[in-house]
Amino acid sequence: MRVLIVGGGGREHALAWKLAQSPRLSALYAAPGNPGIARHATCLPIRADAIDELARFAEAERIDLTVVGPEAPLVAGIVDRFESRGLRIFGPSRAASMIEGSKAFAKGLMAKHGVPTARFDTFTDAAQARAYCRVLGAPLVVKADGLAAGKGALVCQSLAEADAAVDLCLERQGFGAAGSTVVVEEFMAGEEATLFALSNGSDVVELGWAQDQKRVFDGDQGPNTGGMGASAPVAAVDAGLADAVLARIVRPVIRALEADGRPYRGLLYAGLMLTGEGPKVVEFNCRFGDPECQAVLPRLEDDLLPLLDACARGGPLPPRARWRRGAAVCVVIASAGYPGEYRTGVPIAGIEDAEAIPGVLVFHAGTASKNDSLVTAGGRVLGVTAAADSVRDATGLAYRGVDRVRFEGMHFRRDIGRGRR
Ligand code: AMP
Ligand code: GLY
Repeated sequence: MRVLIVGGGGREHALAWKLAQSPRLSALYAAPGNPGIARHATCLPIRADAIDELARFAEAERIDLTVVGPEAPLVAGIVDRFESRGLRIFGPSRAASMIEGSKAFAKGLMAKHGVPTARFDTFTDAAQARAYCRVLGAPLVVKADGLAAGKGALVCQSLAEADAAVDLCLERQGFGAAGSTVVVEEFMAGEEATLFALSNGSDVVELGWAQDQKRVFDGDQGPNTGGMGASAPVAAVDAGLADAVLARIVRPVIRALEADGRPYRGLLYAGLMLTGEGPKVVEFNCRFGDPECQAVLPRLEDDLLPLLDACARGGPLPPRARWRRGAAVCVVIASAGYPGEYRTGVPIAGIEDAEAIPGVLVFHAGTASKNDSLVTAGGRVLGVTAAADSVRDATGLAYRGVDRVRFEGMHFRRDIGRGRR
């Protein structure tokens, strides 16, 4: 099969690395890709949001399957545009992607179908939102409705913070149109875990559990980022809990979307809080998590390509995916200043040394080639990933890899995977 990957971050590098191992693959392209992806695929100078250009390429090059990494083109309708031209593509339609594209939509769907999630209400009026904050009491969470690159959830410890968050979204348009509606919800205490589920529109197959560490500094301090590291599997999730999440959360949502005329074909990311009252949904995403994907795929024994193709075709899925024993951990190395402003073009050294350690893989997230050398090109630059028998061993190995990478101003969390078995 001839495959095109849309995107150019760490998640897409992990997808390219895994798809490149498929015996069914005959050609692999990535748009735009990155220098790490270029080891597995031909990279094209087409942006991930240039939907018509991507479709023209897929037509001209007789691409059998396009795999979409990031949420923005999905929410913008890349799948609908490809399918209207008869092109096969992995990912949910625009209507189904609203599960991530609108938190108000996702919460409404959960409320209607009794899917456990934090108590909430939705507002466009600031005074009404502030009044509801007083009904819930602090701590609470104020969320911009639309896409905000992982920065739209404001966890507020006091009513004063909640008022400021409401003000930022609704009165100062801090998130633009994405924040012109807000969801105000109860704070849930517990351990977070992410489930990946593949769906062909009606059936579901579990594609692994992971934990993401989203705050920028050790000990979960500082602002939220896209994710500073991930580990898989999740010790707190046993087979009973996994089955319960599929039965009470994932399958009802897939059925509800199908009944609503927006069948979900793609990867459903369920971000969960494991609370004292059982697992509850924090959020849904319409694509693989980044960096969770980098920790999940190294453990997948199965060929990923036929699974993604079955979802895209609406064809049958196996009852379960097959996994390697052991664990994987991904430590993200970021640019100085991330998640705030950062500079790019900083030379990177030591990747080959890190990859010389058996079991270590370095996924490129924000890198570029400049005059034949590798430089930084994003906030999250690399994901140093290791597979081993346990999360503890994989963590040790990943940090040995991290120690061999060098670029000016690089920073990373030192507690990824810590305390997890
Ligand atoms: P989201 O963008 O909805 O994934 O939220 C980002 C992060 O904010 C989550 O990973 C949680 O750590 C935190 N968060 C969001 N909603 C809640 C909630 N209702 N209770 C506790 N923490 C939350
Ligand atoms: N790592 C969180 C996300 O991909 O949304």
